[in-house]
Amino acid sequence: MLPEINWRNCLCSILLSATLAQSVELSKHVQALFDESMTIQDALYDPSVSYLRYFYYPLAAGPHETRSTVWYSVGLLQRNQDSDVEEAIKILRNVIGDQERNVSVQWYGDYTVYPEQPTVGSPAYPPVIYNSWDPNWRGFIGTALIIIYEEFRNLLPQDVQDLVLESLYNSTIGDSYRVGGVDGDNLYPAYSNAWLMRTVVSSWTGRKLNDANMTAAGDADAEAFVGLFDRNQTLSEFNGPTYAGVSLYALTIAAKYLQSTNSTIGQHAVRAIQQIWDYESKLWNPRMRNIAGPWDRSYGYDMNNYVAIMSIWLWTLIGKEGVWKSSSPIWTMAHADDLEIAPVIAVLSEFHKKLISSSTISRLETFDGEHTYSGQAYAPPADFEPRNITTWLSPALTIGTQSFNQSVVGGFSKDSSSFSPSVVQWIRSDQSIGYFNLYPTETALKAEVAPYALDLTYPLGNVSSTFTFAVAPNPLGKKRDITAMGDLDGINIEVGGTVDPVPAISFCGLVGGDCDPIHGFEFWNITFSMPENSSETPLIHLRISLD
Ligand SMILES: *[C@@H]1O[C@H](CO)[C@@H](O)[C@H](O)[C@H]1NC(C)=O
Ligand SMILES: *[C@@H]1O[C@H](CO)[C@@H](O)[C@H](O)[C@H]1NC(C)=O
Ligand SMILES: *[C@@H]1O[C@H](CO)[C@@H](O)[C@H](O)[C@H]1NC(C)=O
Ligand SMILES: *[C@@H]1O[C@H](CO)[C@@H](O)[C@H](O)[C@H]1NC(C)=O
Ligand SMILES: *[C@@H]1O[C@H](CO)[C@@H](O)[C@H](O)[C@H]1NC(C)=O
Ligand SMILES: *[C@@H]1O[C@H](CO)[C@@H](O)[C@H](O)[C@H]1NC(C)=O
Ligand SMILES: *[C@@H]1O[C@H](CO)[C@@H](O)[C@H](O)[C@H]1NC(C)=O
Ligand SMILES: *[C@@H]1O[C@H](CO)[C@@H](O)[C@H](O)[C@H]1NC(C)=O
Ligand SMILES: *[C@@H]1O[C@H](CO)[C@@H](O)[C@H](O)[C@H]1NC(C)=O
Ligand SMILES: *[C@@H]1O[C@H](CO)[C@@H](O)[C@H](O)[C@H]1NC(C)=O
Repeated sequence: MLPEINWRNCLCSILLSATLAQSVELSKHVQALFDESMTIQDALYDPSVSYLRYFYYPLAAGPHETRSTVWYSVGLLQRNQDSDVEEAIKILRNVIGDQERNVSVQWYGDYTVYPEQPTVGSPAYPPVIYNSWDPNWRGFIGTALIIIYEEFRNLLPQDVQDLVLESLYNSTIGDSYRVGGVDGDNLYPAYSNAWLMRTVVSSWTGRKLNDANMTAAGDADAEAFVGLFDRNQTLSEFNGPTYAGVSLYALTIAAKYLQSTNSTIGQHAVRAIQQIWDYESKLWNPRMRNIAGPWDRSYGYDMNNYVAIMSIWLWTLIGKEGVWKSSSPIWTMAHADDLEIAPVIAVLSEFHKKLISSSTISRLETFDGEHTYSGQAYAPPADFEPRNITTWLSPALTIGTQSFNQSVVGGFSKDSSSFSPSVVQWIRSDQSIGYFNLYPTETALKAEVAPYALDLTYPLGNVSSTFTFAVAPNPLGKKRDITAMGDLDGINIEVGGTVDPVPAISFCGLVGGDCDPIHGFEFWNITFSMPENSSETPLIHLRISLD
């Protein structure tokens, strides 16, 4: 049960005192980001119920959505015009009012996915983790509530300020029920973005409410994060264009609000943010507007055509034109709903930008010449050993890959549609980006990259192994049908190794073909098999040149 806490007069709040501004000063780039996302969210907002409409894949007929509404409330408090603050207050009362109160259930302290949902755990609505309830909503909404409390609490009536703290307390207790491998949960320290959100919420809330156990849990989580991160100063959830952005978000909250305390995550956050940008800036190709692969988890094959949270951070650092062409309206992109996180990123971004060195920012703005990145990342329990990452970047062609030895197919999240361990991208005749990505089918890969070359071996493979590549359709006006490697626009790929050099080719299209697109991206499935009766280790050599 809830311990006796006097939310109002908690002495510990002195420790975390922050100067409260009416709104956070935003630079020109950030104001543009803020305004563009708020224009969309204003249109989605339904004032009759104080929730945003459900603009979340797949689109729904009628219902509203919880997490994005909380992000919007941060935007409303930041903007603070007309009835903005009143609406934000209604939102907070609604969302916290629907927070799970039964301490015996696994989803205790969690928020709804959408407000109209049936009661989780009722006969008609079984509790299914990541479906009927999402354990990460505690972290996403909890971190946003911290921002609200730190930046805008003077805009809120006292009872709502107290509700925010009580909500964070329950959310933190509920999140402590999460144990990787137990009850269908996968919250291991290697699940970087979700782990960091829990770490930060527990660390902040424990200190705020003077709860030593909660504080200690946050510090222990932070130690586990640092232990993995410092093997090679990389996130275990390596180089995901969406989720690296969430990890940076959590770390920025720790840096901004916990650095002045003795919190373990507060002590490490600034340098971790800098080290993440150090490698991400080496992997970003400004001419291609893409973070080169490999990507542990990605929601697409070309960042020009979907909304990744790293794109939103990049916008705050180098401006929108560095990230997306002005001819691409954001709401037409895959994962457009992820722009709804922009208000919280905008509020943190001025503080965040001050942490990033000018040499890092200049690498993000201008391609600084052909180079190779090499590093390691480690995500137990999926990884039996650290993965070795090598990425070669040239102005119009990047090749990035990783060697791995894992317990499952599809990486830590067991998902071959988001795990992209070998990625080739190039600039085509119309300036769009081509992609040629290995679709994972094996638990182990030995992969080597050199300029214009990619070699892939399946150490545990046999005659039935295949190398499947998800390959971009050609630009409009170029060859419509791909029947051989020679049909790919703008690139020549010579194939060698122990595979049969003649692939099977099929199409995965929006309205036809052999299979469905992945995350909205259509592709040609180019699959190389082993010759009949081969006893060789499966190996494919790709020698790549641009037209
Ligand atoms: C809380 O959840 C437990 C476990 O499902 C259940 O037995 C109990 O009846 C619930 N309590 C309330 C008040 O709903
Ligand atoms: C927090 O959980 C307790 C049960 O432990 C419940 O009584 C209380 O109403 C909850 N508070 C909120 C804001 O949901
Ligand atoms: C202390 O924190 C741990 C981890 O958050 C949690 O599992 C445990 O229930 C807490 N114990 C008490 C007495 O609050
Ligand atoms: C932080 O300070 C408190 C109070 O002085 C102490 O109890 C705690 O052990 C410290 N934590 C760390 C991680 O140093
Ligand atoms: C760690 O990463 C750096 C690049 O940031 C690299 O130079 C170094 O060799 C890596 N160490 C290992 C053990 O992979
Ligand atoms: C993968 O790791 C396991 C456990 O350490 C080891 O037994 C196995 O030989 C490794 N496999 C490869 C292909 O390296
Ligand atoms: C990574 O490289 C090290 C050093 O070369 C090697 O021992 C290890 O097996 C490699 N890991 C994988 C997963 O291939
Ligand atoms: C090849 O490996 C797969 C997966 O381990 C196995 O099911 C299959 O029997 C193997 N085939 C041969 C011919 O060894
Ligand atoms: C690609 O095509 C092969 C047949 O050539 C098929 O077995 C495989 O399932 C397809 N993969 C995807 C991701 O569509
Ligand atoms: C593969 O092996 C089978 C059985 O030994 C044999 O009949 C067949 O001719 C072989 N195929 C090739 C291409 O060598």
